Amino acid sequence: MSQSNIESVLHEARVFPANPQFAREARIGDESLAALHRRAESDPVGYWSDLARSEITWHKPFTQTLDDSAAPNYRWFADGELNVSYNCLDVHLAEHANRTAIIFEGEPGDTRRLTYRQLHAEVCLFANALKARGIRRGDRVVIYMPLVPEAVIAMQACARIGAIHSVVFGGFSAVSLKDRIEGAGARCVITADGGRRGGNIVELKAATDKALAEGCPTVESVFVLQRTGEPVPMQAGRDIWWHEAIVGLSDQCEPEWVDAEHPLFLLYTSGSTGRPKGIQHSSAGYLLGAKMTSRWVFDLRVDDVFWCTADVGWITGHSYVTYGPLAAAATIVMYEGAPTYPDGGRFWSLCERHGVTVFYTAPTAIRALMKLGEEIPAKYDLSKIRLLGSVGEPINPEAWMWYHRVIGQGRCPIVDTWWQTETGAIMISPIPGVTPTKPGSCTQPLPGIFADIVDDEGRSVTTPDAGGYLVIRKPWPSMLRTIWGDNERYLKTYWEKFQNKFYVAGDSAHRDADGYFWIMGRIDDVLNVAGHRLGTMEIESALVAHPRIAEAAVVGKQHEIKGESVFAFVVCRGARPTGDTRAFEKELRDWVTEQLGAIAKPDDIRFAENLPKTRSGKIMRRLLRAIARGEPITQDVSTLENPAIIDQLRGLG
Ligand code: WTA
Repeated sequence: MSQSNIESVLHEARVFPANPQFAREARIGDESLAALHRRAESDPVGYWSDLARSEITWHKPFTQTLDDSAAPNYRWFADGELNVSYNCLDVHLAEHANRTAIIFEGEPGDTRRLTYRQLHAEVCLFANALKARGIRRGDRVVIYMPLVPEAVIAMQACARIGAIHSVVFGGFSAVSLKDRIEGAGARCVITADGGRRGGNIVELKAATDKALAEGCPTVESVFVLQRTGEPVPMQAGRDIWWHEAIVGLSDQCEPEWVDAEHPLFLLYTSGSTGRPKGIQHSSAGYLLGAKMTSRWVFDLRVDDVFWCTADVGWITGHSYVTYGPLAAAATIVMYEGAPTYPDGGRFWSLCERHGVTVFYTAPTAIRALMKLGEEIPAKYDLSKIRLLGSVGEPINPEAWMWYHRVIGQGRCPIVDTWWQTETGAIMISPIPGVTPTKPGSCTQPLPGIFADIVDDEGRSVTTPDAGGYLVIRKPWPSMLRTIWGDNERYLKTYWEKFQNKFYVAGDSAHRDADGYFWIMGRIDDVLNVAGHRLGTMEIESALVAHPRIAEAAVVGKQHEIKGESVFAFVVCRGARPTGDTRAFEKELRDWVTEQLGAIAKPDDIRFAENLPKTRSGKIMRRLLRAIARGEPITQDVSTLENPAIIDQLRGLG
């Protein structure tokens, strides 16, 4: 990668000091933040050790904080024993049993509340149901569900018995589901008859049946939640209704005490090459990261109503729906459906009706809602909201300002939180009562997180606004442990570039004169479409699996709402389709939807006789990106075998 590729282009000068009223009541003030930073810098291991002792309830305390003997396969608190579900539920029963844990609203408008006591009972019941089907510590369980309380219950139940969950986003196709079930070697799938989204039914059981019909020999049991009530076939011996599975079972379930390093979950995410990677997280280190950041970044207290809009199919839904806020004894809101169903006021109406105090969403949602006009949020009472958050992609200053002015009414701090599936928890973010914010910057690393920006040789980039690789210099407890079943790939993807010296995030970034971080985007072939990571290779493989496609190259194009959209250049077997190709384009879009899921569907498809390649045969992606974005071509194209294809790629020939 050349440095010019990652030169900074943003120039944003506005600064918003911390709101003094917020600061007075904040969990972390100026001085405590400075003290935490000092402690973390002078003794990073001692810093994490103190936190792990004070924040986690241990069944058996640990004696060694960090084991770096097999670095970069770090281990944290390794000889300690705990249970994550115990730390999210049981620890609150003495003081907060009757406090609301979950406020749920379905897309059709049905609502449900669960107190901590009720949630505890539901988790225990379902944990016993899993055990009754022979699921034990270390077994993998795939969860493919709508965003309903049972998704959280299923995850917590797995944690309770030491089973390793792998949640697959309900928007992924049967083919993706099958790949993930097989990758994890799951013994069990937990799904629902369907979920509701945008007025439609998402047929989860049908997709599960399809996945299982085509492989997945390890799956013995399928639990099916009744959500829509639509009839679905049940396979005798294999499939069991959730509500029948729990009949007659106890609502108490002794937690399975596991080692700190016991895998809590796998979560598949896209990389630049090959198949999605099963990111493996630990129990104690992960819990510590999710809990601490929930309390520090979201300033969560027991009387907060926290709504993180992410689906549990993504890491954000793991750390800030299922684990972090529950460990902090807060109340969470879960909403099953689409942000604009039945109209663009749904999010704001939910905030008003449920008294949301802290709201966390993605820039893509903010932009979509912004486009609908500020008259819509103006109709709702948003006065209870005290803090706003953003995650998943860089937020453009215009969307930041709208969020600040219209939703935050100028009063609420905004925390723009940078992190990844791999980091487990927020890494770079303002502390809301302290850090002055700048629209578009995630500001500065949290205490104990040694983020830096380095050049190709691994030297720290100190010139303000000069771009480089975003890296983390020291291990941290909630970091991924490995890639499931492929430690080589873990080493290669995250550590090899700088000889294991630091974790390479795969993002480029720059720092301004105040030391604020500005994330510029991925440096690998990963797209960020509506805050979701998609590997270009995955989409290319899906396209070439179509019988008429010989070759494909996928790049990202800027998109007003989604941030980036999928742009595919395609070479067909035989003659290049010309004239009206709309029907064939639709066929290809449907094909990709079927292979991967609707989020991976190309917005643009362009047919060419061949793809531009370097002499060594590498596809010239930078050229394709320029063409997709309608930018001038700066590459040397004189060596192309067939210069006429440039016009074809541009859609002119
Ligand atoms: C991007 C989501 C800019 C980044 C939690 C990262 C961001 C990828 C931000 C991880 C942010 C996430 N500002 N970019 N605040 N947050 N990203 O694994 O490119 O789904 O590497 O985790 O999203 O996406 P993932």
